[in-house]
Amino acid sequence: MNDINLIENALYSYIPKGLKSEKNLIKSIQYSLKAGGKRIRPRLVLEFSKLCGGDDSSALPFACAVEMIHTYSLIHDDLPCMDNDDMRRGKPSNHIVFGEDIALLAGDALQSLAFDVMSQSLTVKNIKAEACVKCINILSSYCGAVGMVGGQVIDLENENKQADLASVTECNRKKTGALIKASCEMGCVCAGADDKKILAARKFGENIGIAFQIVDDILDVTSSDEELGKPVGSDVGNNKSTYVSLLGIDECKKRVDKLTDEALEALNCFDGDTYSLRELALKLSSRNK
Ligand code: IPE
Ligand code: IPE
Ligand code: MG
Ligand code: MG
Ligand code: MG
Repeated sequence: MNDINLIENALYSYIPKGLKSEKNLIKSIQYSLKAGGKRIRPRLVLEFSKLCGGDDSSALPFACAVEMIHTYSLIHDDLPCMDNDDMRRGKPSNHIVFGEDIALLAGDALQSLAFDVMSQSLTVKNIKAEACVKCINILSSYCGAVGMVGGQVIDLENENKQADLASVTECNRKKTGALIKASCEMGCVCAGADDKKILAARKFGENIGIAFQIVDDILDVTSSDEELGKPVGSDVGNNKSTYVSLLGIDECKKRVDKLTDEALEALNCFDGDTYSLRELALKLSSRNK
């Protein structure tokens, strides 16, 4: 089974079953989790775990947890009070189908499900309890006020004004970089890697994370709704400050290449086979969706 199938099978197995009165909530969770997506974050968890000698079954709960947090962040990001986008992963956004109330609650439930999955007895049985707690600590801090949620706040506060590059960089590092970095670090931690490797994974994640958001901002201008599966022109429509609005597309592409080079450099710290991580970083830097 390839990594994407492995991830999706595990992800869907964690969707709560047998809830009758809450069936709309479960349908809403299922709708967004099963809508596809590139599954970049869980793939990074598995790749770093493999690189550090871990097995997929120990890493999978952490891979699923970060995808749950990411999916919740997308559901909330599309709400009218945030980016107000009506399409996601090629389908109507969660709130368009289920309403704002259920979409909000589906995001909340996905967030707590992530922590449930990471702390289930079967998860803890497969890896050392200390590593498990460390992963929970990484994801809980990177998804909250000092990470993804904080970045989303900076993003909203930078609407309707010309923010400076330092603020937009901080926003990208937090709103998108934090979960990508968490994925890389958790992969190492659940495989029992030492601090030097965890730090190198952090550096890799930090650089591809910022690059990832710059490419997302470029595609918001250069791509199409059909190709991306979400509305293009969202950033201009919301009068956002982005790398593209501040620097223009050519300079953005140069920065993406530089950040990707720095990420690849960080992989030199590992003695295992880094080929697929290198390929993934390069593919992400030149992706068209
Ligand atoms: C979209 O993330 C939101 C950003 C952080 C830029 P992805 O581009 O990884 O979205 P999916 O998971 O493939 O839909
Ligand atoms: C979203 O950034 C980051 C998070 C959801 C945390 P964007 O608002 O640019 O993501 P898209 O373009 O809607 O996917
Ligand atoms: Mg947004
Ligand atoms: Mg958005
Ligand atoms: Mg975007």
